[in-house]
Amino acid sequence: MAAPVIGVFDSGFGGLTVLRELQKVMPAANYLYFGDTAHLPYGAKSVRTVAKYAIASAHFLESRGIEMLVVACNTATALALEDIRAAVKVPVVGVIEPGAQRAAEISKSRKAAVIATEATVSSHAYQRALHKFGLESVEKACPLFVPLVEEGWVEHPVTEQVAHIYMDEIFRDGARGADVLVLGCTHYPLIRSLLRRVVPAQVEIVDSAESTAAKVVNQLGSARGQGPAGTLQCFTTDSVEKFCRLGSKFLGHSIENAELVDIEK
Ligand code: DGL
Repeated sequence: MAAPVIGVFDSGFGGLTVLRELQKVMPAANYLYFGDTAHLPYGAKSVRTVAKYAIASAHFLESRGIEMLVVACNTATALALEDIRAAVKVPVVGVIEPGAQRAAEISKSRKAAVIATEATVSSHAYQRALHKFGLESVEKACPLFVPLVEEGWVEHPVTEQVAHIYMDEIFRDGARGADVLVLGCTHYPLIRSLLRRVVPAQVEIVDSAESTAAKVVNQLGSARGQGPAGTLQCFTTDSVEKFCRLGSKFLGHSIENAELVDIEK
């Protein structure tokens, strides 16, 4: 059985946390990763703009022969998943539904807290998805986490202090009684250990990246991803040097090269 060719799309480096989980569960798959770094961050942009860039990126990956597209970016999933699905022929998996489903599987209080970018929170995509699985939810934008993680401050007193402020706000206000916290942004898995120290002990942390990887395995069949390590090709719309340098931190191993692509042509 041939190893699958999977496209993974994100606004930049963050989606490499999803690729990292995919490589763990389907090591033999061949991956094409597209980071639209020229237009980063998506988290503060409008639906129209995010959809335009996401569709152009999806078309690019489709033209390279992928058989499935994983939209690793929470913001692009929240704002443009249906538009992306309509624009390509291959099956498209987003990160929100798998994260919501996992939260529903483990929550006993039937209440979840979600942290994400400004745009994801404003769309209420997580709230709708959680509601579908019978969970009430409270969402909170944590816009400072993305730049802090990109600065490499994943174990830093400043990040810890910021996390305390955000988590105090969310768990003191609406999220009292929530027993699950959904990490609704690609960057947050990198501060998972720090968040573990800050969020109330009874609250379980759900990483959408892990749940999304599990869904992909489910759809493609786990046998197809097993075997010797497959290939990885990376594409970026801005500096290749920066993509390889920063991306390696998100992926957990080095990225030797990436191809510069212009999606606005
Ligand atoms: N990838 C984005 C997300 O998961 C975070 C970075 C951005 O705002 O572009 O929402």
